[in-house]
Amino acid sequence: MCGISGYVGPRTDAGKIVSDGIKHLEYRGYDSWGVACKQDGAIKIQKDTGKISGVDSSIFCSTSSLAIAHTRWATHGGVTSVNAHPHMSGDGTIAVVHNGIIENYQELRDDLITKGHTFKSETDTEIIPHLIEEEMKSTDDFAHAVRNACKMFDGRYALLAMNTTSETIVAARTGSPLIVGVNKTKGGYFIASDIPAFAEHTKTVQYLDDGEMVVCDGKSILFTDIASGEERPKREVEITWSVEQAHKGEFAHFMLKEIMDQKESIARAVNQDEEQIKTIAKAITDAKGTFLVGCGTAGKACMAAEYFFSVIAEHHINFAPASEFKVYHHFLQPESLMIAVSQSGETADVLEAMKVAKSKGAKVLAIVNVEGSSIDREADYTLLINAGPERAVASTKALTGQMAVLMMIAYAMKNQLHEGKTLLLESAGQITELLNPRYVERIEKLAEMIQDKEDLYIIGKSWNYPMALESAIKIQEVSYIHAEGFAGGELKHGPIALIEEGTPCIALVGNDEVTTDIISNTIEIKSRGAMTIGVAPENNEAFDEWLKVPDVGNAQALINIIPIQVLAYYLAVKRGKDPDMPRNLAKSVTVK
Ligand code: AGP
Ligand code: GLU
Repeated sequence: MCGISGYVGPRTDAGKIVSDGIKHLEYRGYDSWGVACKQDGAIKIQKDTGKISGVDSSIFCSTSSLAIAHTRWATHGGVTSVNAHPHMSGDGTIAVVHNGIIENYQELRDDLITKGHTFKSETDTEIIPHLIEEEMKSTDDFAHAVRNACKMFDGRYALLAMNTTSETIVAARTGSPLIVGVNKTKGGYFIASDIPAFAEHTKTVQYLDDGEMVVCDGKSILFTDIASGEERPKREVEITWSVEQAHKGEFAHFMLKEIMDQKESIARAVNQDEEQIKTIAKAITDAKGTFLVGCGTAGKACMAAEYFFSVIAEHHINFAPASEFKVYHHFLQPESLMIAVSQSGETADVLEAMKVAKSKGAKVLAIVNVEGSSIDREADYTLLINAGPERAVASTKALTGQMAVLMMIAYAMKNQLHEGKTLLLESAGQITELLNPRYVERIEKLAEMIQDKEDLYIIGKSWNYPMALESAIKIQEVSYIHAEGFAGGELKHGPIALIEEGTPCIALVGNDEVTTDIISNTIEIKSRGAMTIGVAPENNEAFDEWLKVPDVGNAQALINIIPIQVLAYYLAVKRGKDPDMPRNLAKSVTVK
């Protein structure tokens, strides 16, 4: 997590460039910020707690051509301005920003303390400039000193380092993303965690791979392998998405914009190369075990897909949250397949699971949104869901895009790709009508009714069960209401004890073979005093409130979740919370 941004080049407003850069990366972390500018041979640091978005970029030095910046998601050490990055070496000559965790930092710090170093912060990061300082005692070459320090680290990290004696930024990564932006016309280089940090300046990018570093003096750049020092030639890639796509436009928040984007984004996800979908369908049929992995919302897409593959393709597929996957490694063989699902393509737990699969010789298919992300580049095959940039921490359009792609594959396994595509496109076509202003207003009113409730439960059966779990995540993360999802049939085995007079309970219902059962479950909770909200194609006396959704058969899960996304959004807004930047969270979870 955390966003890092650096600039070195001909411009003299490097402080503004990098601080604007991290404003675009706040989705990665936003508990504190910091900027280091090189000015007159010295390093000037400004840092504070809170969000960088409220800080006027003109406060940063206007005569600097080299700067680095950081927006933090704390892992080690509380949210204080002392713990905010950049961190400095003891002699004040080296500044570092860092994303990730240096797992062996305690041991390295103890060693540095015996060598006379003292530390100001509680972070793992602070050992990095101190180690580089130590290395600089035996070399004049800053890049060489950074390389030697990196060789000592365990864990996942991306870092940018600068010093007082060279006009260079040295950057290195292992596990966490770093991308270089090249300004071909005006000169200068940007190095950041993600493209939005510099998308307004250039669309030409070069990706660092794991275990690589770059040394850049603003005129040229050199990519090398950290361990061997060998040069790594890089391709320049032109990115296609526009800066406008990453802006809120007429919407108050990214979350609402992205929910509304689903009018088009599902159709974009469905628009895949048919031959490729058929090849993947065959690979799943032939594989000796297929394992779906993902985290959070992407994990719920995987769980829904377990049902798609079972019901539509009559094929068993195993899902495990990526962070739990290790337990299943015994079942992987070279003929097995892993399907890794991720919006950002940077989730550390997913990358770890992929590493396990690859170590067993299994192939990995990635279903991601961000092209060029680590998961995209490390997978054997990738399907892009083409949702466009998703900026709100709460994932919405990525979920429905992931489910659409997975459902299409399930249909392709039954030689019914055309039927699957038609169903998905027809269902997607109904979202414009579904999200009409009156409907959205009605959900807003419902949010007003329940905004002061402390607990909220969601039930579903079959593929609406993972959607009940997903509804809970959406409501928890943006509104901070205690929400929990259950399989409708499980209520009577315990959770029903939680229901009290007036407890809001949402039932996600389709028009299928489990409709009668889920309606019975809804009546069971209504009989115990719950205020029931049915999301269903048909009204029923079991519902105190009814949110009508179109009847879309096997695609019901994709549609039923949409009113709940809207509800979660309004619950956050009504309770005065920022739905785009919920507390304690970050968009890309690049730590384990
Ligand atoms: C979704 O609303 C969450 N913020 C989170 O669960 C997210 O889905 C998860 O961290 C996985 O991210 P990814 O799709 O980028 O891998
Ligand atoms: N581990 C570092 C810290 O806690 C960096 C965390 C991050 O990636 O934001 O400061």
